[in-house]
Amino acid sequence: MSHDSIDSILHEERLFPPAAPFAAKARIPSAAALAALREKAARDYEGFWADLARSELSWQKPFSRTLDSSDAPHFRWFEDGQLNVSFNCLDRQLAKRRDKAAIIFEGEKGDIRELTYGELHETVCRLANGLKSLGIRRGDRVVIYMPMVPEAVIAMQACARIGAVHSVVFGGFSAESLKDRIEDAGARLLITADGGYRGGKVVELKQAADKALDHGCPTIEKMLVLKRTGHSINWRKERDLWWDDLIKQQSADCAPEWVDSEHPLFLLYTSGSTGKPKGIQHSSAGYLLNAIVTMQWVFDIRDDDIFWCTADVGWVTGHTYVAYGPLATGATVLMYEGAPTVPDPGRFWDMCQRHKTTIFYTAPTAIRALMKFGEDIPGRYDLSSLRLLGTVGEPINPEAWMWYHRVIGRENCPVVDTWWQTETGAHMIAPIPGAVPTKPGSCTQPLPGIEAGIVDEKGNDINEPDKGGYLVIKKPWPSMLRTIWGDDERYRQTYWKKFGGRFYLAGDSARRDKDGYFWIMGRIDDVLNVSGHRLGTMEVESALVAHPRVAEAAVVGRPDDIKGEAIFAFVVLRGARPPGGVDESLTNELRAWVAEQIGPIAKPDDIRFSDNLPKTRSGKIMRRLLRSIARGEAITQDTSTLENEGILRQLRGEE
Ligand code: WT7
Repeated sequence: MSHDSIDSILHEERLFPPAAPFAAKARIPSAAALAALREKAARDYEGFWADLARSELSWQKPFSRTLDSSDAPHFRWFEDGQLNVSFNCLDRQLAKRRDKAAIIFEGEKGDIRELTYGELHETVCRLANGLKSLGIRRGDRVVIYMPMVPEAVIAMQACARIGAVHSVVFGGFSAESLKDRIEDAGARLLITADGGYRGGKVVELKQAADKALDHGCPTIEKMLVLKRTGHSINWRKERDLWWDDLIKQQSADCAPEWVDSEHPLFLLYTSGSTGKPKGIQHSSAGYLLNAIVTMQWVFDIRDDDIFWCTADVGWVTGHTYVAYGPLATGATVLMYEGAPTVPDPGRFWDMCQRHKTTIFYTAPTAIRALMKFGEDIPGRYDLSSLRLLGTVGEPINPEAWMWYHRVIGRENCPVVDTWWQTETGAHMIAPIPGAVPTKPGSCTQPLPGIEAGIVDEKGNDINEPDKGGYLVIKKPWPSMLRTIWGDDERYRQTYWKKFGGRFYLAGDSARRDKDGYFWIMGRIDDVLNVSGHRLGTMEVESALVAHPRVAEAAVVGRPDDIKGEAIFAFVVLRGARPPGGVDESLTNELRAWVAEQIGPIAKPDDIRFSDNLPKTRSGKIMRRLLRSIARGEAITQDTSTLENEGILRQLRGEE
């Protein structure tokens, strides 16, 4: 989102109080009920979380210690307790919900499948036994590279069941990205599919997986392949094995492996400000606890809900609000394999109508994209089953918020704008729909037990309304990341160093308005948010300079109406610059190259060729200057230090 639009919403005055019929039935039905929760968290922080952990999780061995901060910034929650996450998601539902739909799946081509809790439990057990038969044990890493099909969740749950640590790699990432993540995690097993359907095309996952393994990944012993498309694929007999063949011989009973609360449940790679993605490591008990309480507080989940989070399981949203949170609360989760515009831009609304979706959670970029097609399209569908709407991933502009509220929610559904991160594991700042009035564009207030703040450079609170600062979290919370896999130093540096270990640094800037509402303003680091996906500028730069014709590259973001941010690359070639700085075929080649190095989401939207990049005397690239140019803004920076001021005209595309 651009800062211009931030300014224009600085004085948003619209307030949407919880509708009385909604609040009457809500789990947290009033401001007073919420205040009581907050008060309890303020009075007895550890007791607040301990009580929730006791009431919401099923323990094999109860814990006696709530929080151990003696090794800060490593925090241990419920440390001496033991449990199993898959048991908490599946086994404990069987008594009441064996025949209730756990997952309703719809493929892009329209195929529909329903799995009850009983069936899901059985398949997870079979696969868990299958994994064990392959020698996968507690603590081993398993990489999951799959389409958005129930088996992706089954694979995650099966890992959790045996204490293996999964690392899901988004199916849109390239072979190269997959390889880096497998190698960093040291995974023994790769679970993939022969392909998936997305955007009217087949995503060739097995082909990419083969390529990743051909170029490295020495720790991988086996590749487990789900048949989804039935298209022909290459096969290595000694290494590859079909999912169906593995599970059909397995027993449907698999005792859960009891693990310590702090046992790593998963790694999930996300971008930071260097070229190398970081493997965010999450715990078992703490992670699941926040997943559960946010399902209750923010989504107000109930037994008769049809809960649809459109995120892919390759992102944290798909972990917490597809694979774990809904199951751990016994909900029915709707899963969709494909793109929102196939066969037409009514797909989401059609699915809401047919499946009677009650809670719908998506990204602002999807809302903006679908909004472009006009109101007539959603107007053709009966959306009356919807009772709650949510957004995540990036700031939502008030215009899109209002459209969502009016056209999709028929002014009847609370809209929850949820701020959180891969690192936080679950919602941190979000409205409690029966208790907190919403404002279009604001994620409102921190959840009970979450001490978010806005501080200045020195770590002092900023109390002045609307003054921006660093968004921090001041106390550890159960679902916080535990470290960066294999790089604890980077964990300390990235999240704790800035304020001397006192606060968790989120990496966003934010302001608080006169009512204490939080407004997220954007990242403070070199991280882009493209369609709600986090991408490091350095990652895209490293991909570009790996091309034989590229000598140097600098990547910045510029505002984009639909994607939030678009990628703008300034490139210096080896050899002569193309006349006028334009070379369409090379531009296309570089875009395709980046897609191959990282994935299609990282393709630069604009590429401009120049003889040089603007640098300070100390040789640092002047990114702010490049950002102004990419946005077509007037240049206010001092350019006198530029070696060659003439370069400015080239960067602006004027010569
Ligand atoms: C970054 C985290 C959390 C799941 C999806 C993204 C931005 C996230 C919001 C929101 C404004 C938001 C932040 C954050 N972000 N939600 N509701 N309003 N910005 O996870 O890839 O870890 O990215 O996304 O900049 O730091 P992620």
